[in-house]
Amino acid sequence: MSEMKEIVLNKFEEIFGDAKEAKAYFAPGRVNLIGEHTDYNGGHVFPCALTIGTYGVARKRTDKMCRFYSMNFEELGVIAVDLNEEIKPSEKLNWVNYPLGIVWAFEQKGMKIDAGFDLLLNGNIPNGSGLSSSASVEVLTGFILRDLYGFEVTNQELALIGQFSENKFNGVNCGIMDQFAIAMGKKDHAIFLDTATLQYEYAPLKLDGAKIVIACSNKKRGLGDSKYNERRQECEDALASLQTMVDIKSLGDLDEATYEKLSPVIKDGTKCRRARHAIYENQRTIQAVGALKAGNLKAFGQLMNESHKSLRDDYEVTGKELDTLVDAAWKVPGVIGSRMTGAGFGGCTVSIVKQENIDEFIKEVGDTYEKEIGYKADFYVVEIGDGPCVL
Ligand code: GLA
Repeated sequence: MSEMKEIVLNKFEEIFGDAKEAKAYFAPGRVNLIGEHTDYNGGHVFPCALTIGTYGVARKRTDKMCRFYSMNFEELGVIAVDLNEEIKPSEKLNWVNYPLGIVWAFEQKGMKIDAGFDLLLNGNIPNGSGLSSSASVEVLTGFILRDLYGFEVTNQELALIGQFSENKFNGVNCGIMDQFAIAMGKKDHAIFLDTATLQYEYAPLKLDGAKIVIACSNKKRGLGDSKYNERRQECEDALASLQTMVDIKSLGDLDEATYEKLSPVIKDGTKCRRARHAIYENQRTIQAVGALKAGNLKAFGQLMNESHKSLRDDYEVTGKELDTLVDAAWKVPGVIGSRMTGAGFGGCTVSIVKQENIDEFIKEVGDTYEKEIGYKADFYVVEIGDGPCVL
């Protein structure tokens, strides 16, 4: 981290003249272990923060200008926004729509940004990988604004501000999982979060000498152009049908047996399968955390595998790339569990792999993927880290 701090401070000085009064910050990315597409259905999720993430350097200005620079998009140069003008999303602002959405969200919540700032970012999460590079930028920006302007908001509120900006400024109807996992991350722990109540519990990730390996499909996707919002709508329609039979607030309120009894009320077969995924996945997540706490890693891994099948067959968000990675992973010895993670439609898989089999895993899965898909996947053996911090 200290090496990266020096890199970003030096770059800040090069781009913005000097780094006097500038401070360096970090916010992680996240990976979800199980509980996919449950967060906007009032279900449970089980994500954790990573030690890779977004580094930032910022300083307050005396005028109303905001200047943004990303080391990941150097070709775009410095992008400036004048706070005297109306803050609104636009295509030409590119990645700046994410930090700007946070400025907008703070103001919407009554916290005035009375002066501009200079902000430089450098992320080491692969873009569009499904490890939440955008939520990482959102939480980092919120964390920085809190520090610069002295706003009294908790980390949990920073997560909600991030989600609000993503929903209302950037137009993706995401749930709370990503921003929550990032803002509330804890080293070596995953977060068991009930998205209906925001009650949460940290569970130590005791993996018995196994590691979390992420395989990135390198199939780019953005939630905006994916079928994410469509899936959300299908679940809402299914819920509305079920609500004619039973008094529930969300799909997460139902167990499997009650769903099976009531499902004929959902006339559309596709919507039926979407709801089935949301309901079964929520129950799987609760079981998986129970298994992990009981030290039954094998059962945890099997539930991860079941999760993938449900995302593939019922929710239909995997696609050839993710299925190829997971099918190949399931064949490698020492793989405790493997599934797609995040929104799907490209992005990454997450696997729990015994230490001694990791090299073989990377070779076998990598070779199969390249042979079947025609380009390479990237692999990351990741560590579980803390939430945002000042460096
Ligand atoms: C994206 C969204 C999350 C969540 C996942 C799917 O990462 O941002 O809110 O819905 O997809 O589990």
